[in-house]
Amino acid sequence: METNSLLGHNAKLVLVIMAFLLSTNITNSVATSPNRFVANLIHHDSILSPFYNATATIADRANQSLGRSIARLSYLKAATKIETPANVRGLVLAGTGSFLVSMSIGEPQVHQFLYMDTASDLVWLHCIPCTGCHTDNAIFNPSLSSTYYPLPCNYDSYCAEHCNHEKNWCLFLARYADEASATGNFAEEKFTFSIANEGITTARNVLFGCGREINEPNREINGVMGLGYGEESLAKQLGNKFSYCIGNIADRNYMHNRLIIGNGAVLVGGWTPLVIRNDLYYLRFESIKVGHRTLAINPRVFQRTPQGRRGLIIDSGTENTYLIRDAYLALIDTVKEIIGGELRRSFDPQRPTTLCYIGRVNRDLTTFPVVEFHFRGGAFLKWRKENLFETISNTEFCLTVDIANGNMPKDVSAIGAFAQQFHNIGYDLSAQMLYIDRMDCETDLVNYL
Ligand SMILES: *[C@@H]1O[C@H](CO)[C@@H](O)[C@H](O)[C@H]1NC(C)=O
Ligand SMILES: *[C@@H]1O[C@H](CO)[C@@H](O)[C@H](O)[C@H]1NC(C)=O
Repeated sequence: METNSLLGHNAKLVLVIMAFLLSTNITNSVATSPNRFVANLIHHDSILSPFYNATATIADRANQSLGRSIARLSYLKAATKIETPANVRGLVLAGTGSFLVSMSIGEPQVHQFLYMDTASDLVWLHCIPCTGCHTDNAIFNPSLSSTYYPLPCNYDSYCAEHCNHEKNWCLFLARYADEASATGNFAEEKFTFSIANEGITTARNVLFGCGREINEPNREINGVMGLGYGEESLAKQLGNKFSYCIGNIADRNYMHNRLIIGNGAVLVGGWTPLVIRNDLYYLRFESIKVGHRTLAINPRVFQRTPQGRRGLIIDSGTENTYLIRDAYLALIDTVKEIIGGELRRSFDPQRPTTLCYIGRVNRDLTTFPVVEFHFRGGAFLKWRKENLFETISNTEFCLTVDIANGNMPKDVSAIGAFAQQFHNIGYDLSAQMLYIDRMDCETDLVNYL
């Protein structure tokens, strides 16, 4: 099989594993790093996205967004179940995501769009020469870069064990939830982040995977920026803190979504403990308030079991939010009661479990109350109608919260991107705290930079 040839006799290793790399170089590079790295975060459907499709209708995009959310939830479920032996890192890459990080690699710089993924660790992208890479994306050619440093087999004990002797490469292997995979060599490179009028920041010696053999039917992924809790994560490499501010997803011209990595990440607003299990970011549920009403939900329904069942993950890759049955029913019963008989329900066969109505969000929901999703410690997401409802066609809208059941994984609840719109979310990995602040990414974020 093509994807195994790089691995030689190591091909029979369980493919999901990747060892813990010693991080001496990483630590050194942090000392000389700027305080923060600021990158443009581009929604999948934005006019700035490589996947932008001018002829796709609202209904097409809503349907594709749903497909990505469902795939992503399956991935999260798989990620919660991976057993990671001591000193070995589990790794599964998602096939999908919501936001792309705009950045450049190497010298001279080659621009890349990498999926932002808070639920995986490795930074990974296509490199030339490459088998199975799609040629329609700009592929990085390390042999043309003066700052490229491939990790040799004697780099550390992991590399000694995962070595391509012919090329003296330290091998990485990423496997997707759907059996697709990517293999290649670990290397260090210069990463550059730049935003018009806001400056350029450069990180040197960033550890990443140079993908050489890609087996990925989806063909949409050029690379992934892992911001999980594992050592190879870019968040770990660049200072243990990151934050992102997400604005209006439905507005394809919106340009103010930002990802900030490093000590200067924006950690403002209410806080809640970040519970890290399997390198995934879980939150502790406190309550849901609709207007002045607190819904009757026992926080225990969200409690993660030692086997990885249940639990509430904050995710950047799913667009919808998925809640465990008890919480979901409490929420939709209240939403149905508030909307009452004023609007007609609609049924979309693509989303048999979703609460949908005939109408327009802006016209028909003007008096819908604010919904607050509270976490232990005081942080909360403040959902206005744009967070809670998504327009799926010219005549219909649906709740962006769905049940984590049906044909989808039963047990994991996940807070998605619609729920995080108009908020800044700050991750402090050292203190294991999450900060949430409702803000306008265009006008408010600059006050913290
Ligand atoms: C763009 O969207 C339209 C409508 O969904 C679809 O028919 C077409 O194949 C898409 N084009 C690309 C390049 O994906
Ligand atoms: C929605 O997407 C699914 C694949 O995710 C496809 O099978 C289906 O035909 C699409 N439906 C519409 C109405 O575009």
